[in-house]
Amino acid sequence: MRVLILGGDGYLGWPTAMTLSAKGHEVCVMDNYLRRLIAQETSSEALMPAPNLSDRAAIWKSLSGEAVRVVIGDCKDYRLLSEVFRDFQPETVIHYAEQPSGPYSMIDFDAAKRTLDNNLGVTFNVIWAVMEHAPDCHIIKLGTMGEYGTPSIDIEEGWLDVEHNGRKHTFLYPRQASTLYHTTKVLDTDLLWFYVRLYGLRVTDLMQGPVYGLSTDEADRDERLLLNFHYDDIFGTVVNRFLVQAVADIPLTVYGKGGQIRGYLNLKDTLQCVELAMNNPVEKGNLRILNQFTERFSVNELADKIQRVGNDMGLNVQAKSIENPRKEQEEHYYNPKHHGLLELGLKPHYMTDEVVAQMLEQVIRYKDRIDTRKIMPRVRWS
Ligand SMILES: NC(=O)c1ccc[n+]([C@@H]2O[C@H](COP(=O)([O-])OP(=O)(O)OC[C@H]3O[C@@H](n4cnc5c(N)ncnc54)[C@H](O)[C@@H]3O)[C@@H](O)[C@H]2O)c1
Repeated sequence: MRVLILGGDGYLGWPTAMTLSAKGHEVCVMDNYLRRLIAQETSSEALMPAPNLSDRAAIWKSLSGEAVRVVIGDCKDYRLLSEVFRDFQPETVIHYAEQPSGPYSMIDFDAAKRTLDNNLGVTFNVIWAVMEHAPDCHIIKLGTMGEYGTPSIDIEEGWLDVEHNGRKHTFLYPRQASTLYHTTKVLDTDLLWFYVRLYGLRVTDLMQGPVYGLSTDEADRDERLLLNFHYDDIFGTVVNRFLVQAVADIPLTVYGKGGQIRGYLNLKDTLQCVELAMNNPVEKGNLRILNQFTERFSVNELADKIQRVGNDMGLNVQAKSIENPRKEQEEHYYNPKHHGLLELGLKPHYMTDEVVAQMLEQVIRYKDRIDTRKIMPRVRWS
C-alpha cells in the first residue's frame, strides 16, 4: 500500500514509518520539525539526541534496505500538501501532524493560537487534498481520549444513542476537553464528520490515550534510531516524567490527589492499532471512531508501580504530591469502552514490571543528560 505519514519525524510518526516500510509498504513521510522547534523555544528538548528526518531515513535504509521518501515542509501549506498527494497518490494517509502538548497550548495567546491554527489548519488541508487528489484514500487521524473528558457516565466508542421525547438518534458522544490542545482534537473530529457526511470521505479517528515506551522491533536495531523521549512538563507524559524523576533521585511529582485515571498503551500497540485500521479500511461515507488504549491507571497507581520497580532495581524512588498546575478532576468516575481494536485483532502489550524496568534501564543510560530544571511544572492553567 502507498502510505503517507504526516508528522513522520514525531514520537509516533517515525516508528510507524519504519514498521510499515519493513512490511513492504511504500512510505512517504512529511514533517516541518514543529515539535523540535517548540521544544527548543520552551527548553523542552528530548533526553536522547535524534538525527534529523532525512538522516533517520538514510540510517534506516542502510540497515533495512527499505527506502522511506522524505518531504520537509508544512502541511498547512496547501499547495505543497496538494503536490505531495498528487505525486504520491496515497491509499492511506496517517495524520499525526499536530501540536500535541496540552500544557503548551495553555501557555499564552501565541501558543494557543499556534496550536489552534496548526491543528485545524492541517486537518482541513488533509480533507481537501484527499477530496481533490485522492478521493478513495483512507484518512487515519489521531484523536485523543482527552476529547471525552471525565464524564460521570460510561464513555462509548465515539457515538451515543440518545432518546428524547420518545424518539431516538445517534450522535457523536458529547465531548468536553480540559485543554485547548484537546479541544482542537474535538474540533478536528467535528470537521471530519462534516466532510464524511457531505462528501463521502472514509475516516478512522483513533481516540488514543497516552503512549509509553521506546522499544519497537525496528528502533531496537540501532541506537541512532532511538525514538523521541521528552520528560519535561510540556512534552513529557506522566510516565516519562516519573521514569526520569525515579532515575534522577527526585520525588515523583504527583499532581494533587493523584486520582486522575487515564487509559494508556504501549508504543508497540499504537503501531498495531494504526496498522489494523489501515488493513481494515472503512467504507466511503463512514467515520469510524475507536478508543485506543489497553489498560487504565490512576496517577497514584503509576507512581506506585514505578516506585516499586525502581526500588527493586536499587534506585531510591519517592513520590510526593505537589499543587496541581492543571484544572482537572483529581477523583472521578472513568469507564471508557475499548472493544473495537480488540475485535480487529489487537494483541495488547501490558505495562508489566519487566516493561517498566526496561524503560528505566534506557533512561539510566542517559542519566547524565537529565536537566533537572525541566522537572517542576512551568505552565499553570490559570
Ligand atoms: N504520544 C501520545 O501519547 C499521544 C496520545 C494521544 C494522541 N496523540 C496524537 O498523536 C499524534 C502524534 O503524536 P506524537 O506524540 O508523535 O507527537 P510529536 O509531536 O512527536 O509528532 C507530531 C509531528 O508532527 C509534526 N508537525 C506538526 N505540525 C506540522 C505541520 N503543520 N506540518 C508538518 N509537520 C507537522 C511535528 O513536527 C512532529 O514531528 C498527534 O496528533 C498527537 O496529538 C499522541
